Amino acid sequence: MNQADSGCVEIAFREVSKRYEGRPEAAVNRLSFEVPPGEICVLIGPSGCGKTTALKMVNRLIAITDGDITIDGRSVNALEVTQLRRGIGYVFQQIGLFPHMSVEANIGSVPRLLGWSKQRIRARAAELLSLVGLDPDADLRRYPGEFSGGQQQRIGVARAMAVDPPIMLMDEPFGAIDPITRERLQDDFLRLHREVRKTIIFVTHDIDEAIKMGDRIAIMRDGQLVQYATSDELLASPANDFVASFVGADRGLKRLRVWTLRDLTLDPAPPAGGDSLPSVEVGRSLRDALSLLLTEGAGQLTVTEAGKPIGTVTLEAITSAVAQDRNTAAA
Ligand SMILES: Nc1ncnc2c1ncn2[C@@H]1O[C@H](COP(=O)(O)OP(=O)(O)O)[C@@H](O)[C@H]1O
Ligand SMILES: [Mg+2]
Repeated sequence: MNQADSGCVEIAFREVSKRYEGRPEAAVNRLSFEVPPGEICVLIGPSGCGKTTALKMVNRLIAITDGDITIDGRSVNALEVTQLRRGIGYVFQQIGLFPHMSVEANIGSVPRLLGWSKQRIRARAAELLSLVGLDPDADLRRYPGEFSGGQQQRIGVARAMAVDPPIMLMDEPFGAIDPITRERLQDDFLRLHREVRKTIIFVTHDIDEAIKMGDRIAIMRDGQLVQYATSDELLASPANDFVASFVGADRGLKRLRVWTLRDLTLDPAPPAGGDSLPSVEVGRSLRDALSLLLTEGAGQLTVTEAGKPIGTVTLEAITSAVAQDRNTAAA
């Protein structure tokens, strides 16, 4: 894989199956989907549905039984395995830092194998630590056990990014972390992804995390793909009862989080110096707008862009937009 192509690779599963020895049922069963270059694809489904197995077949930690996985059209089996893995950052389900190694040595583990100099490794480790919100000066020489779970997870992400691989595989990376820290890690990771575009397969069993992180979501059940869609499609038109119950009875409310005020046709802005309505920025979610309407007891909000009023929105506008879209989707 060409390092200069960072962020520009496509990953495709083509009828991929995995049968473990001595097990009658396929752990992964004819899985097909494509992850466009630079996107985050979330794999989600109940425990045991085959998410980790699917992920580990991409970097050949697990051998494919049938079918193929391609990266920019080339089979993962056509590449030498070390060369393949060099292009793929892997964040483990359990954090998996080496406890007896300093943070610098952890981040430097792959670069060291590639023969990078000490100075280059130190500079890269320092750069990555600041990127994930830690302090290079203080933290490079410390050991994993001295950090909180959330900080260790950041170090795990930094380590996976050490040689700037175009692909990242992340197996429930924020799974073992308290909800508040998890939200921060998610936000930081999304910001990072906007700066350093990579093609990512992200495994989770948390539907809220999937909706937030995924450009597309692949829902799996018993080794098979049940639906592959954007968050909004998934929430608007679940393919069957399994998906519907998986995304939750509150999927209407969840959709409010996916949409922003930008997605609505706004009413005209109030005249300057007119009623002082509560105001909300156009980039905020419909959920935030609705919450503001409720807490302010207002019937209407002024929508602003960079602080300037660009229109107004009412409760009815929010509900009818989402309902109208549902009717179109159903038609
Ligand atoms: N090394 C293995 N040998 C045999 N069966 C396995 C092995 N690893 C996973 N499995 C089985 O394959 C299925 C999928 O497992 P896994 O991919 O770990 O699911 P998930 O990550 O979605 O929880 C499960 O039934 C699991 O018990
Ligand atoms: Mg797993």
